[in-house]
Amino acid sequence: MFWILVVICLFLLAFSGVLLFGAPYLPTLKKQQREALDLLSLKPGQLLIELGSGDGRILREAARRGVNSIGYELNPLLVIYSKLACWPQRKLIKIRWRNFWHISTSQADGIYTFLLDRYMTKLDKKIVAEVEKPLNLVSYTFEIPGRKFVKKQNGLFLYHFGVSTKSPE
Ligand SMILES: C[S@@+](CC[C@H](N)C(=O)[O-])C[C@H]1O[C@@H](n2cnc3c(N)ncnc32)[C@H](O)[C@@H]1O
Repeated sequence: MFWILVVICLFLLAFSGVLLFGAPYLPTLKKQQREALDLLSLKPGQLLIELGSGDGRILREAARRGVNSIGYELNPLLVIYSKLACWPQRKLIKIRWRNFWHISTSQADGIYTFLLDRYMTKLDKKIVAEVEKPLNLVSYTFEIPGRKFVKKQNGLFLYHFGVSTKSPE
């Protein structure tokens, strides 16, 4: 009984603790997974960074297209699960147990994220501060306030960030 309670507490802690730093776990729907990758238009060999990579489904979709990816995820249970689920494509997929606010996105050719409204301005500032080469960003469900999207499709917002992007375009 004691160990069952410990496991339940760890489970609750892993899924609720993340709320202090970002969005809770909710996976992107299947149709939008494919559409997000279509919108990002990444070529084989390019790098996708996913901020909050959940169970790794977007990373696997990227790998099916020959795209390299790094997923940053805070929930340790999802990190373990996604590492196992992505094992067959491990040459293309890396998953890191990190708070994505503390990593650099500068090497990304594309970024995918599914957060919450209240983090979108902070995200915009982070990308603008770090961008070193042109990149596309797709956000599921949530728009970046004050930034014009390139395309909106089935709840996915596509943004382009250029090296000179220092203020909303
Ligand atoms: C709405 S879910 C989206 C999951 C996945 N991107 C998808 O679309 O299927 C948000 C994910 O981000 C993770 N997350 C939230 N804040 C984070 C942070 N600061 N650093 C790393 N991961 C974070 C959560 O644990 C959760 O798995």
